[in-house]
Amino acid sequence: MGRIYAVANQKGGVGKSTTAVNVGGYLGEWGLRTLLIDLDPQSNATSGVGVAHAPDRPSVYSVLIEGRPAAEAILPTSVPGLDLLPSDIALVGAELELTGLPQRDSRLLYALDGMTRRYDYILIDCPPSLGLLTLNALVAARHLLLPVQCEFYALEGLAHLSYTLDLVRQQSNPGLELAGIVMTLYDARTTLSAQVVDEVRRMYPDLVFHTLIPRNVRLSEAPSYGMTIGQYNPRSRGGTAYAELTREIIARAAGESPGSLAGVGQPLSHAGALATTASAETTFETEPQVGAEAPEGVIDG
Ligand SMILES: Nc1ncnc2c1ncn2[C@@H]1O[C@H](COP(=O)(O)OP(=O)(O)OP(=O)(O)O)[C@@H](O)[C@H]1O
Ligand SMILES: [Mg+2]
Repeated sequence: MGRIYAVANQKGGVGKSTTAVNVGGYLGEWGLRTLLIDLDPQSNATSGVGVAHAPDRPSVYSVLIEGRPAAEAILPTSVPGLDLLPSDIALVGAELELTGLPQRDSRLLYALDGMTRRYDYILIDCPPSLGLLTLNALVAARHLLLPVQCEFYALEGLAHLSYTLDLVRQQSNPGLELAGIVMTLYDARTTLSAQVVDEVRRMYPDLVFHTLIPRNVRLSEAPSYGMTIGQYNPRSRGGTAYAELTREIIARAAGESPGSLAGVGQPLSHAGALATTASAETTFETEPQVGAEAPEGVIDG
């Protein structure tokens, strides 16, 4: 049976889509039947694997809102073994539309019925919010893959995610587990990146993947060519890091080590000394959305 991972963090620009596309790319390339589901109206995962916008094509919107079969909307990609359930701009209205529909938080779960027999891995790229789209992903998934950016406010806002996970577990998906924390946008030139990684590892020793995803210009270039890093530049530092992370995910899947998010959302211990006094709750509404900004201080691959 295939495994379903929600790639989620309500913080914007932390590397969710980059992780979903490139892990999905390697899984497919290595012969594992993989489905990438783009659940974000921004459609970054869709364009990231080179699938162009097409308004009349069935998409994750038609599956979630119109109840069309997922198989109708799934497309092959240029990566052998990797299929895509594409997003569509219509998904912008889906959060509102879902509120009026029956089983509003479990529509993706039902839509994916049978897909775990067809695929070894299903990765769901979530939007930067904890709305009904992300909720559908968390209800449908067995595992959460949590990308966390190596920055000062790394863990802020995760109290909300932890609370949402508890609710989902209590109400509809008791088996939901944290597959692991992926530290992204690591900058080896700064001590801050290393400090953040040390601190997150100290707090969640079993949850943080050993592989650090470096800030690497090749990773930001690849989507503009509609390629995964495995296609665009597998030898770059970003390419080798995502290959290594994918190996770790496969190994963890074989070993099944469940994780807990208990305590996530606590500020990092050094954070208090440096700046923040605001709680996760108060900063949640005002978090900057990094989005598609060009990364600074990019290191070439
Ligand atoms: N390791 C990296 N090195 C360099 N650039 C990166 C890296 N990871 C992500 N980026 C770039 O940073 C931006 C944000 O990344 P990405 O879109 O993956 O984040 P996201 O969490 O999916 O964002 P959103 O919350 O908007 O969906 C993109 O322009 C992406 O190309
Ligand atoms: Mg994204």
